[in-house]
Amino acid sequence: MTAGYVHFPTLLSEADADAMLRLCERFGSYGMYGQKPGEEELGRGLYPRHDAAMNYLRTGGRFGRSESAATLAVRTNYFRETYAYDEPVVDGIEGFLWHEGLLEAARDIFDRPIVQPAIVYANLLIPGQELAVHTDVPEFRGANRTKDPEWLLVVMHHSSLFERWRMPIATGVSWFGGCRGGDFAFYPEGPDEAAVTVPAAHDSAILLDTDSVFHGVDRVAETATPLPPLAIGMRLTFEGNDTWRIGFGDEAVIRYRWDDLRFSVSWKAYCLADEAERRMVAEHTDDLTRPRIMDMLLRDLERRGRLRDGVPGGTDLALLLIEEYVRFPPPSAATDG
Ligand SMILES: [Fe+2]
Repeated sequence: MTAGYVHFPTLLSEADADAMLRLCERFGSYGMYGQKPGEEELGRGLYPRHDAAMNYLRTGGRFGRSESAATLAVRTNYFRETYAYDEPVVDGIEGFLWHEGLLEAARDIFDRPIVQPAIVYANLLIPGQELAVHTDVPEFRGANRTKDPEWLLVVMHHSSLFERWRMPIATGVSWFGGCRGGDFAFYPEGPDEAAVTVPAAHDSAILLDTDSVFHGVDRVAETATPLPPLAIGMRLTFEGNDTWRIGFGDEAVIRYRWDDLRFSVSWKAYCLADEAERRMVAEHTDDLTRPRIMDMLLRDLERRGRLRDGVPGGTDLALLLIEEYVRFPPPSAATDG
């Protein structure tokens, strides 16, 4: 089945698009998005997005390149900060948070009239970086990333067992600046069909259900300088005069020009069917619990014949769940060098 999406060749006015670049500069400094391994028994030691990382390492990404795990990690440790969380956390993001075109596209695609913008965040990728193919972390009534492992929420959605509790989230991704490469690649026809790519063109955007549709970011065009040895804790900081610096504190490991970077701004909104559903969410009258989630998953694994040797322990059970339910698109035959 084809998943709906809306592409915006032009999202904002010229002045407003330019204002997004100035906002990005004004915000000034962006932390590296790194992941810490989980500590609870279920899946202990696995990264929050073990599903996507494992698939990336196994396949070498969308183009099936083979590289060391260390190089792949540097390729995917990009920079991120939040511009709005329920309300603006930085001046000048209001118009984007409540963008009528995004709201209307979300209502259309999900066929749900109540759209509540929840978060706006910026991602910055440097030359040579890319984003492994994945689906985003979904949310359910009673299950979310504040208390449940991200890979488990992904497994839950891919299992289709928890649709009754799912909170559909619309995601808009917009791009600003003169980035080269870094196309947005996604699979609207499903993981077994060809990917569609959209260039990360200045002041354009796409809106879709990224919790359901596999997607990723192709490699940002590399400059003469190879990828620097990025380390967790480094920041990407605007120095003025079209220049960005990466490093700890004031030290610069490398510098980039604006046009070397891929700057995207993502928008996520809850899509609700009606007032009754909104109340159910607010009043927690029909929430999932972890025992119920595990019970439903284990019963389904049993039915699929995957528990003939008994129920495996914490980390093995996590790996079994990921392998059984999350079916990634295979690497494409395409070669782009
Ligand atoms: Fe995503």
